[in-house]
Amino acid sequence: MFGVAVLGFGVVGSGVAEVLSENAEVAEKSAASPLKLKYILDVRDFPGNPFEKLIVRDFAVIENDPEIRVVVETIGGVGVAQEFTRRALSAGKSVVTSNKELVSKFGFELLELAKAKGVNYLFEASVGGGIPILRPITQCLAANKILEVYGILNGTTNHILTAMLKDGASFDDALRDAQTRGYAEQNPSSDIDGTDACRKICILADLAFGRHMNPDWVKTVGIRAVSADDARFASAGGYKIKLLGRAVARDGGKVAAYVAPHLVPGGNLLASVDGVMNAIVVRGNAVGDVMFYGAGAGKLPTASAVVADVIDAVKHDAARKWISWGEGDESMMYDSAALVSRWYARVSAPEGSVKRVFPDAEILGGDTAETGFIVAPQSKKSVEVSLGGFGVLSLFRVID
Ligand code: HSE
Repeated sequence: MFGVAVLGFGVVGSGVAEVLSENAEVAEKSAASPLKLKYILDVRDFPGNPFEKLIVRDFAVIENDPEIRVVVETIGGVGVAQEFTRRALSAGKSVVTSNKELVSKFGFELLELAKAKGVNYLFEASVGGGIPILRPITQCLAANKILEVYGILNGTTNHILTAMLKDGASFDDALRDAQTRGYAEQNPSSDIDGTDACRKICILADLAFGRHMNPDWVKTVGIRAVSADDARFASAGGYKIKLLGRAVARDGGKVAAYVAPHLVPGGNLLASVDGVMNAIVVRGNAVGDVMFYGAGAGKLPTASAVVADVIDAVKHDAARKWISWGEGDESMMYDSAALVSRWYARVSAPEGSVKRVFPDAEILGGDTAETGFIVAPQSKKSVEVSLGGFGVLSLFRVID
């Protein structure tokens, strides 16, 4: 029997308890061993909750119980979550988590600790919610040199942008709806300002390129800069607006990585990824482009990925899963502004003035006060120089 403890009985933690108990038969069959959810650590009371009897308040109970072989950390953040993860690994228990902040900041050290203790630290649910993506990168695509990984990595912002572009919803109403559905982070600024997507692209880059990428090194812009005018111009031209995280391999082992809003042409598969759905494209030198699509947030989709890791930890109780990366340093970062792409700009000038500077621009719309348009592929520096004489209201990359 494998005892399991869940730390944190919030949206994801309660989903894990539900999936473990409702799908117990399936989980035990996959794990080839009985699983028992024995404790749930939380400081709150849950009167009347079916899992009420499992609540404990002292982590030492879990730490000192030899029956507990897998600890599920769904507390979030890097405070007690980090402390309990270190203690659980040190006590010889595998740890499974959806905590992208902890993995993106301290994954290298925690994987080293797990290795030293002969246990596993697994975090499939930290990127893409219920989408299998980390295992495919490390296993199914292992024969490839990864050239690029990018995608829609945050369900809350995709939900907001979809509601703004499709339904004309206000930013605030769409955010409230995402919060009600349990998609948003405790502090939704992590979603809106791109921090959550940044953590996820760092974890993807760690695995794809083999060196730790600190989220502080990644230029990150969220969706506050996206206006109703941008939404109108993008729609008029047949484009969607999506917040993308992107990491691109460059010569000499360098990596260009950033998070920013993009215009996505209607014909690009990412354009039809709406609402809470996420999609991640991995470009391998042998396989070409592979796309992973599914629910990127929410209680049960995320719990689905967590419980799969619990099963994997049980199956590999006597062996280590090969998942790790090396140390990184900021000198491995390539300036993403040098990446060439088409650009969308919205400027406070009429179409005629735009056409004088950019005769080949694709005009999306405008009036005497402002114009939205797209220019030919170039670096950010180059487009900024050409836009020097304009009042620039928005400047987003186009992903082709
Ligand atoms: N707040 C995150 C999102 C949850 O909206 O994608 C899943 O990581």
